[in-house]
Amino acid sequence: MNQQQLVERARQVKENAYSPYSNFRVGAALLMKDGTVIDGVNVENVSFGATNCAERTAIFTAVAQGYKKGDFEAVAVSGDTVDFLPPCSICRQVLVEFGGPDFKVLLTNGNADVKEVTLDELVPLAFTELEM
Ligand code: THU
Repeated sequence: MNQQQLVERARQVKENAYSPYSNFRVGAALLMKDGTVIDGVNVENVSFGATNCAERTAIFTAVAQGYKKGDFEAVAVSGDTVDFLPPCSICRQVLVEFGGPDFKVLLTNGNADVKEVTLDELVPLAFTELEM
């Protein structure tokens, strides 16, 4: 699956978002190194703090399917925004848990323009396992 196809998948899955409180739909398409693509959407709750972002929905689904650290290749994130939509800081930390520094993050906007960054660029000086 190429970059454009992954972005298109994120745009399509966005339609499944459950976001009655923010009315902001987000779709994520997570590409695994074996070529599998795992979808994620934001799932909101009347108790707002129980909301799960699209990126974490996809990552947690991958883990539930048996994928491990190092199996993660890229993620495309789509929302109906003018600016490129970057993952929130909680999702960045979860991405750091499972993706290596070269994991690719494809930021898109409502026009499906794409900006590719590595996880290392998105989260410099990440908090991760440290030598003690
Ligand atoms: N949201 C995501 O799904 N991913 C992000 O990276 C940013 C925020 C969702 C959470 C909430 O349902 C809505 O967007 C508004 O914050």
